[in-house]
Amino acid sequence: MRAIAVHGGAGRWSEERLREAREVLKEAVLKGYELLMEGKPIDACEGAIRVMEDSGVFNAGRGAVRNLEGKVEMDASLMVSDGRAGAIGSVEGVSNPISLARAVMERSKHTLIVGEGALRFWKGSFTGGGEGSGDTVGCVVTDGKTVVAGTSTGGVKGKEPGRVGDAAVIGAGTYASPSGGASATGDGDRIILVSLTFFVVSLIAQGISPMEACRAGIDLLESRVGGEGGVIALDSEGNLGFHHNTPHMPVAYISSGDGRVMFFGFSGKERTG
Ligand code: GLY
Repeated sequence: MRAIAVHGGAGRWSEERLREAREVLKEAVLKGYELLMEGKPIDACEGAIRVMEDSGVFNAGRGAVRNLEGKVEMDASLMVSDGRAGAIGSVEGVSNPISLARAVMERSKHTLIVGEGALRFWKGSFTGGGEGSGDTVGCVVTDGKTVVAGTSTGGVKGKEPGRVGDAAVIGAGTYASPSGGASATGDGDRIILVSLTFFVVSLIAQGISPMEACRAGIDLLESRVGGEGGVIALDSEGNLGFHHNTPHMPVAYISSGDGRVMFFGFSGKERTG
């Protein structure tokens, strides 16, 4: 089965912002699904995240929040199940950080590049600096063979200049293996401490369902380090998992099983599947 899931960040959302988020998540998941059906799983993950970055609705890309000095410093990462990954941290002046993370994966010999050093891989422009809602955006894609996961964020509002969060750290904010992939959102300083997405994907590799794996991941985040957040995951068959310990984590999912967009995490009550 081919499948794609996107999230717009764990947090507490107003009704109005949830309505906006729903529209953008739908557009993002359908854009990714179109590319997935064309046989392009990496383009699908990048393309879906670019829609969310461009919307200004989320804390990523155009909507990225500002640090203590009023600057926008963004983190992003992308990982493919063949073991390739690219990540950027604390980068300014980039409209689509997820594309820069992909460029690091495809055009550098490194995994993580921060600050100005990352910009040599970028040819685009920047129009952002906003008040995005929720937290981070993320996406997981599978075509039954290749799994791709990606995450993009402006980080924590009012953060110290130079602070880098989980979205730049492979195994914390983003992870993909032949068994499955995951993207996290929430308190990145704590998500890093439990290597959240690596933990979730490792459970999936042991045969645990994506839903149970996400639940166990957020339980670990909460019990071990007192963190708030959420995570989405797909196994390589396209089965969905998600869990959050915040009121909301808007998620959209579509698979070749029935080709219908499904939404989760909007109600403030249901925090898992
Ligand atoms: N999860 C986003 C951050 O903490 O930077």
